Amino acid sequence: MFTVSVQELLIWLKKQVDFGCDEESLFLLLDILGGLSKRDLIALKINPHQEVKLKVSFNNITNSWIEHITTSRPIQQICESTYWRELKIKVNSDVLIPRVETEIIVDIVNNLFPFPQESIYFADLGTGSGAIAIALALSNPSWVGFATDCDNKALAIARHNFLNLSDCSNLSFYLGDWWGAFNGFSGKFDFIVSNPPYIPKEVYENLSIEVKNYEPKLALYGGSDGLKHIRNIIKGAPNFIKENGWVIIENHFDQGEKVKSLFNNYGFNSVKVINDLSGIGRFTIGRYN
Ligand SMILES: C[S@@+](CC[C@H](N)C(=O)[O-])C[C@H]1O[C@@H](n2cnc3c(N)ncnc32)[C@H](O)[C@@H]1O
Repeated sequence: MFTVSVQELLIWLKKQVDFGCDEESLFLLLDILGGLSKRDLIALKINPHQEVKLKVSFNNITNSWIEHITTSRPIQQICESTYWRELKIKVNSDVLIPRVETEIIVDIVNNLFPFPQESIYFADLGTGSGAIAIALALSNPSWVGFATDCDNKALAIARHNFLNLSDCSNLSFYLGDWWGAFNGFSGKFDFIVSNPPYIPKEVYENLSIEVKNYEPKLALYGGSDGLKHIRNIIKGAPNFIKENGWVIIENHFDQGEKVKSLFNNYGFNSVKVINDLSGIGRFTIGRYN
């Protein structure tokens, strides 16, 4: 453990914020690297004449911060981890940093399948860091999950995260191009979940440096209209889901109605768009029967 005076830490923080830096990124850095949560910090402000313990030296923290502000490299990549739901997940430049808006996809699934003791087979297509599949497998130990990605380096991170977070073996990892990973899995899954790359070309070209230069294009870019991968997934799904099985997809904020039409065109029913916590139609679901 390393110590720093609370006063020194608070003055440094104020300086960064006055300089126009993003306060949330600062809190994240102190939390992940220093082991000091936002709540701890607020409590420290009440008594600034003490010392505070950090997991790494204050020097290390300031250097990481300087790297972030000078290069725009995301804090999560600098610290090689992030928080997602209740999990601490390893990330690097091979995987998308799982986003807070994706978190409720797990609740959507748990609401569709409210009996965790049932034996349910599910697939997570484009698992990246493994966040979605791992959260589902952990909260439902009797479910059996199959997570895929076309990038072996991403799968290595997902495997690492699962081994690190669970001592269960109810999740396995497959390499392949969407449904190509699932030869011989016809009619197997009770549900399929996916947060595929869905950013349209024009939007992709204008993404911030922090995203465009550091997160994998493979995880973001969805072709000219953004729907290339979503189309593939919905089109192939009927071959792999059980009768009455669900497909749950995350989409770009303005794609809900288009994804709804895709589901309808490929024979799904009970199709609906579900809002994220900001009221944006971020998820579209459909049932096949
Ligand atoms: C938006 S990221 C989602 C990652 C993770 N599921 C999440 O929600 O944070 C999309 C993932 O799909 C993967 N992917 C892209 N094209 C693919 C393909 N053709 N087949 C399988 N996976 C693909 C990418 O490598 C990436 O990990």
